Amino acid sequence: MRNFTVVGHLARTDGIFNLDDLPGSGGRIDLLCRCIQAALFLSHSLRRDTDCHLILTGDPVPPKTILIRGGEVRSLNPDERSTAALLRKALSLPVGAMFRAASPGIYVRATGLDTLLNEKAHAVAEEGGEDIRTLPCLPEAFVLSDHLNFTQEETAHFSGIPRVSVGPRSLHADQAITLIHNELDRRDAGWN
Ligand SMILES: C[S@@+](CC[C@H](N)C(=O)[O-])C[C@H]1O[C@@H](n2cnc3c(N)ncnc32)[C@H](O)[C@@H]1O
Repeated sequence: MRNFTVVGHLARTDGIFNLDDLPGSGGRIDLLCRCIQAALFLSHSLRRDTDCHLILTGDPVPPKTILIRGGEVRSLNPDERSTAALLRKALSLPVGAMFRAASPGIYVRATGLDTLLNEKAHAVAEEGGEDIRTLPCLPEAFVLSDHLNFTQEETAHFSGIPRVSVGPRSLHADQAITLIHNELDRRDAGWN
């Protein structure tokens, strides 16, 4: 299994945002939708071996975690608007600390990054990390930030976990996900 976790620092947590203004009213929900697409879409197919977690820490009720399971999700289309509509539905549900199903393959709970990092070993994808091509073994789970840097509180949870870079330039999170998938695909296919 592969997993990509993306922190949306400003992403609305109550589902009350305008589908025609995802960057503004959604707190960069557009960016999270592109990360879902990079994590789960192939051409004319889905990556059924991949999960995508979103950690939303924007107003008014942070944090929330949304899980999209590539092996289970239905009705996911490669456009930001319809993907955001699925997130909006999940965020509108009352939730506690346990995952609750919002629609097929989409789950939501009221917990944050610390909980997920305790459950699943992650590597941090970041600009200054170790070159992914030189690592003999790759982790299965990667955590990325949105357009903002990780907070001090978040980085405090990263001590002792690997830091991995896909290249020398600072990329958008969805671009970094695509390159990590590519590296994993090449290794799985015996190209490296
Ligand atoms: C736009 S960047 C985050 C903001 C950026 N750190 C800044 O200084 O403005 C989005 C995220 O994509 C991931 N990322 C970007 N470039 C990367 C790279 N070269 N290698 C690995 N991950 C990268 C990181 O998780 C990063 O936090």
